[in-house]
Amino acid sequence: MAARINYSVQNTLCLLNPLNYPVNAKTTHFKTGLNFSKNLIFPRKLKRPTFCTCAVSNNDRQSSEAAETFVLTTPLYYVNAPPHMGSAYTTIAADAIARFQRLLGKKVIFVTGTDEHGEKIAAAAAAAGSTPSQHCDVISQAYKTLWKDLEISHDKFIRTTDPKHEGIVKEFYSRVLDKGDIYRADYEGLYCVNCEEYKDEKELLDNNCCPMHLKPCIERKEDNYFFALSKYQKQLEENLRQNPNFVQPPFRTNEVQSWIKSGLKDFSISRASVDWGIPVPNDNKQTIYVWFDALLGYISALSVEKEQPDLQTAVSSGWPASLHLIGKDILRFHAVYWPAMLMSAGLDLPKKVFGHGFLTKDGMKMGKSLGNTLEPNELVHNFGSDAVRYFFLREVEFGSDGDYSEERFINIVNAHLANTIGNLLNRTLGLLKKNCQSTLVVDSAVAAEGNALKDAVEKLVEKARIHYENLSLSSACEAVLEIGNAGNAYMDENAPWTRFKQGGAASEAAAKDLVVILEAMRIVAIALSPVAPSFCWRIYEQLGYSKDHFNSVTWSGTKWGGLKGGQVMAQPKPVFARIENKTELEEEAATRKPVKSKQKKPQAQVAAEAAESLISRN
Ligand code: MSP
Repeated sequence: MAARINYSVQNTLCLLNPLNYPVNAKTTHFKTGLNFSKNLIFPRKLKRPTFCTCAVSNNDRQSSEAAETFVLTTPLYYVNAPPHMGSAYTTIAADAIARFQRLLGKKVIFVTGTDEHGEKIAAAAAAAGSTPSQHCDVISQAYKTLWKDLEISHDKFIRTTDPKHEGIVKEFYSRVLDKGDIYRADYEGLYCVNCEEYKDEKELLDNNCCPMHLKPCIERKEDNYFFALSKYQKQLEENLRQNPNFVQPPFRTNEVQSWIKSGLKDFSISRASVDWGIPVPNDNKQTIYVWFDALLGYISALSVEKEQPDLQTAVSSGWPASLHLIGKDILRFHAVYWPAMLMSAGLDLPKKVFGHGFLTKDGMKMGKSLGNTLEPNELVHNFGSDAVRYFFLREVEFGSDGDYSEERFINIVNAHLANTIGNLLNRTLGLLKKNCQSTLVVDSAVAAEGNALKDAVEKLVEKARIHYENLSLSSACEAVLEIGNAGNAYMDENAPWTRFKQGGAASEAAAKDLVVILEAMRIVAIALSPVAPSFCWRIYEQLGYSKDHFNSVTWSGTKWGGLKGGQVMAQPKPVFARIENKTELEEEAATRKPVKSKQKKPQAQVAAEAAESLISRN
């Protein structure tokens, strides 16, 4: 078990010169002998720098009309049970991508939501002793709450029980019917309720068990409406030929190609045995198959706030999607069924479908049906959203499977966030406070002339950008972390603490070194913000910026030279508290002599102090 050490990150932004050291535009720093830059803005009365002079580069932030729109979706999550870490994973990844695209200045429409119809949901509601509708309200709300705790910045949240969505599904169904692609027939097969899908006997394990859910499929015979998928075989093949990047990562394209090549069977798009669903137009004895219904949520979400949206309004509000982010288990629905449905309705196809891997526990897909899940609320509560987001995006290569272990989790976030980045920032600010009154002595562009760290940072941040663009989220994190490593190496090589003691030119050089490292930290704060937004804001705040400034920053702000001479840093405070293993803390406490005090300190305070002392020791 691990416990998070709490401390207050409510770092008061130091807008004024923190030491109240009076300076004017011609002030010479008393220890370094360096002049402050002349472009500082000094209010007459104060005669000291009030705030940073850096301009926000808004080159990337185009007007919303002119900006390219990036429409990104997560799957709509089944509400049979509350979210688990596997469901949160897709959404965290989508959020990082959405935030990155916003940094590029694009207008982003980030869609998520819940899939609320079908047999599986009705059964879950009955088991919980509630009506399907009450059950959906509760679980859908649990998703919304978790998304808030994980700082998910979605723009739309669609519930498939929303009447506006239902209207659009019926309209779409009627279009496909008019196209002649829906017919009625008997169907007999093996059905997996957890997948909400008829299965091919060849795919099943012994006793007709579904390989994903390890539960037997049920024999079903129904008189259903069918969608003529087979009609679209050639067009689907053609789409893959013309858009070789349609399915990502590239290795999943082969899988999709082979499904199509092996011959596509028409599939049933209605259920006679399921009441909890949208009635089939002109036949209310049947409901629309949950997948046919839910996939349309990607379109209906786009106009969910409009009074009476129809299919056309929804489509013209942002369709086609730029990217569907999904788990690999639902690739067939997104890369075969959905494109064919869209072709039939005469609508554009999404530009890209990315199928990521699974979070596993003991090698098995973590899931609600198997009950081997990891509780995201608990993780967020114990370790904070930045740690959770960072760990899963950094540790699991996006596209492949990844296993969770608490030990690894703690080691990674401590090493990367608390030490490599957090501790470097804290040490640098500590030295700046001691030797330069927390004030930058020169512009970062000037400080870094001919500096090797600057060159390294520029290369690494460009690497991070390319990785984000390619959805290689783990590699993007790695590139940013490398900036932290380079900063630490620079600090150790130049040992500014020694040079400050030498005074004169050595002291001047040391003061410049601190500016260089802090500029690297500023760039880290922008480049890692898609992954760990609050953590990055705390870095930014330490560098003396306002929240508005942070919120309006763009990727072009990663260009070297943002920090200007005269900018006053905040009081150094740790931006990430190390996570301590409870056992470690307990051992440490046991070896300490008992304190003779009537009043015991609260646990949280003890932990916060322990964190502070650990960080300052480093
Ligand atoms: N309701 C459908 C999606 C309809 S989209 C129009 C569905 N829902 S789900 O709740 O079962 O799964 C939602 C997403 O969570 C899927 O992308 C799935 O791959 C993902 N995950 C569920 N368990 C997972 C892991 N253990 N690991 C990673 N992602 C997993 O399918």
